[in-house]
Amino acid sequence: MKYFRLILFLTICNCSSVTSQISSLSQKNVIDRKVDSLVVLMTLEEKIGQLNQYNGFWDITGPAPKDGLAAKKYQDLKNGLVGSMLNVKGVKDVRALQKIAVEQTRLHIPLLFGFDVIHGYKTISPIPLAEAASWDLEAIQKSAAIAAEEASAVGINWTFAPMVDVSRDPRWGRVMEGAGEDPYLGSRIAAARIHGFQGNDFSSRKTILACAKHFAGYAFAESGRDYNTVAVSDETLYNIILPPFKAATEAGVKTFMNSFNELNGIPATGNALLQRTILKGAWNFKGFIVSDWGSINEMINHGYAKDSKQAAAIAMNAGSDVDMESYAYLEHLANLVKEGQVKETLIDDAVRRILRVKFELGLFDDPYKYCDEAYEKETVGKTAFQDGVLDVAKKSIVLLKNDSNILPLPKKGKKIALIGALASDKTSPLGSWRIAADDNTAISVLEGMRKYSGNQLDYSKGADVTVGRTQFIWETKINAIDKSDFAAAISLAQKSDVVVMVLGEHGLETGEGRSRTDIGLPGVQQALLEEVYKVNPNIVLVLNNGRPLVIPWAAAHIPAILEAWQLGTQSGNAIAQVLYGDYNPSGKLPMTFPRNVGQIPIYYNHKNTGRPLMNEPESVFWSHYSDEKNTPLYPFGFGLSYSKFEYSALKLSKSTFSTNEKIEVSVTLKNTSSVAGKEVVQLYIRDLIGSYTRPVKELKDFKMVELKPNESKTITFIIDKNTIQFYTPNSKWEAEPGDYKVFIGGSSDTTLESNFNYTASK
Ligand code: NOJ
Repeated sequence: MKYFRLILFLTICNCSSVTSQISSLSQKNVIDRKVDSLVVLMTLEEKIGQLNQYNGFWDITGPAPKDGLAAKKYQDLKNGLVGSMLNVKGVKDVRALQKIAVEQTRLHIPLLFGFDVIHGYKTISPIPLAEAASWDLEAIQKSAAIAAEEASAVGINWTFAPMVDVSRDPRWGRVMEGAGEDPYLGSRIAAARIHGFQGNDFSSRKTILACAKHFAGYAFAESGRDYNTVAVSDETLYNIILPPFKAATEAGVKTFMNSFNELNGIPATGNALLQRTILKGAWNFKGFIVSDWGSINEMINHGYAKDSKQAAAIAMNAGSDVDMESYAYLEHLANLVKEGQVKETLIDDAVRRILRVKFELGLFDDPYKYCDEAYEKETVGKTAFQDGVLDVAKKSIVLLKNDSNILPLPKKGKKIALIGALASDKTSPLGSWRIAADDNTAISVLEGMRKYSGNQLDYSKGADVTVGRTQFIWETKINAIDKSDFAAAISLAQKSDVVVMVLGEHGLETGEGRSRTDIGLPGVQQALLEEVYKVNPNIVLVLNNGRPLVIPWAAAHIPAILEAWQLGTQSGNAIAQVLYGDYNPSGKLPMTFPRNVGQIPIYYNHKNTGRPLMNEPESVFWSHYSDEKNTPLYPFGFGLSYSKFEYSALKLSKSTFSTNEKIEVSVTLKNTSSVAGKEVVQLYIRDLIGSYTRPVKELKDFKMVELKPNESKTITFIIDKNTIQFYTPNSKWEAEPGDYKVFIGGSSDTTLESNFNYTASK
């Protein structure tokens, strides 16, 4: 076939010019040479073609494309004017398009196939926010590896994940897609997900390219409204938003996606500071950047470009390598080069980046590497995947309240009422980004609980939740105002010993384009909860949600609350195993739960202000609300267990250290209960005086510790200059001399603390 001739040509180019040295060249250099030999063969149009990404002709994950484009897309594919596709899935379809690229185009360059494999392909893991609650990096990496293996089996070789946007605003629907509010936890999780998707090398056909997104600031949309304006200080940009992106580059991520939002007046897609100066410059990122869907042309709406041509020039000059569905590069870049508005060297650089990744993936050796129908059939949905997603689902559950040890439930002799539409829902647990999974494929809570047959279990819906959606046009309807099913649920509760209520958001009420102003229990679920409580207060509330919810009434009245997010295909089994104590919960919140929507943005690593609240009720001149506390309902890092843990003896190996030294900090953790369990031990610091004001607490490390009943362990952390450094007004990461506090505990509101001092050596 012709592409083999091309490979031969590329090999000959290498061999003839550098025969004697080739064995000593690193693989990377070999690839660079292959890229060089291919780029010299390319016309300007073919180069621009590599920068052009089309959506497939059927599924969409953005605004619907213009009519009648399929024929043009096919023609462009044949002319070598397409470098990658998105939303094409299934070996048959991938193979058909790859065949056009490698057999009908002049240079036979294979395509990349991108897809939003966000929390699984067909076998669905918990939503990323839920997985973040596990704080279990190994489980998170494994979950990404499962997603990669399953997606790669259907021909996909690139996922648009992980989303590493630090988010502080639960009104924003996409908090479900990230790792929550903390830059340190977010960085660790970003690396774990990238290692999971990409593996160690691409010679395996089970790994795919990852994509760190959305670069940058997207989660800081004003008032939590998706796509809204973002204005943040340098200090917030560098210390809070950028660290997980930096961690992604260090983890070897091959691609980045920029974002829809403007950042301090400049759209991210046209932002040279972000893309050229920081990412490709200071961080030396060698992969490529894809625009978000149509975000090049959206610079016209932003009021930053007058037309698509100017938008193309701005985006390319700013470092945006691939155009996803704006059609702007293909239409205008050639003319822009001819007119001198865009340098061809910039296009060459973008093409090189893309080709390098294609070589690294092995697509030039075998463009059909991911196209094997038999393998596809035996791989999708296989049992090992089910076991893997069940494992991470259990680890993602957070126990928020358990008064009088109402949980775990006894396994026999009880009458249990299960109430709530979400309890029997087999689609909602799949969450928002499950565009390849089939409806009704999750295990419901009802199904999971039925496996425990020692109790009498009866189910009543009580109230509808929401939602209508066609497969790819997303719509959410809040249609739950009907209380006609209340009576049956109340009467069932009255006759039962314990009531398990599964309430919250449908899986499609969070995600892209699903910002909400009221983040309480949707519809009439709050009313249902209060009515049931009147007849039987012995309630276990199981929350299903893709964002922190505002649930002050439940927190005050309901004895047990289990945060169960949207947990994916194995959701009901995971929840049942935790309810019945076959799995002891160990999750910790990756995002603060507010008491009141008016507190948002609320996050643990806030600043102290000049007027922190000092418990002086006689004065109003403190930073506070007249009608609500400052504190959250549940803080970042919080989560209970069926075990009881006690922290004591916080010790420092010394109280002062300098540049090349370190301090060991240790604490004793004891399981004072009769139940074996796991605890996430968290280390926070506070820098008391900084050249930029510093947060009241910053997470700096954590360890997952398992303890048998009555067992104690000493847990040790290291503090060195890397622990305390931050981005200073000198535009550098620096550790500043001075006094610090250190805190250790099982939540960000821990009060177990000590002090140390840092003296920079001269
Ligand atoms: C828009 C989303 O913002 C992005 O995250 C996603 O990867 C693309 N659409 C492609 O579906």
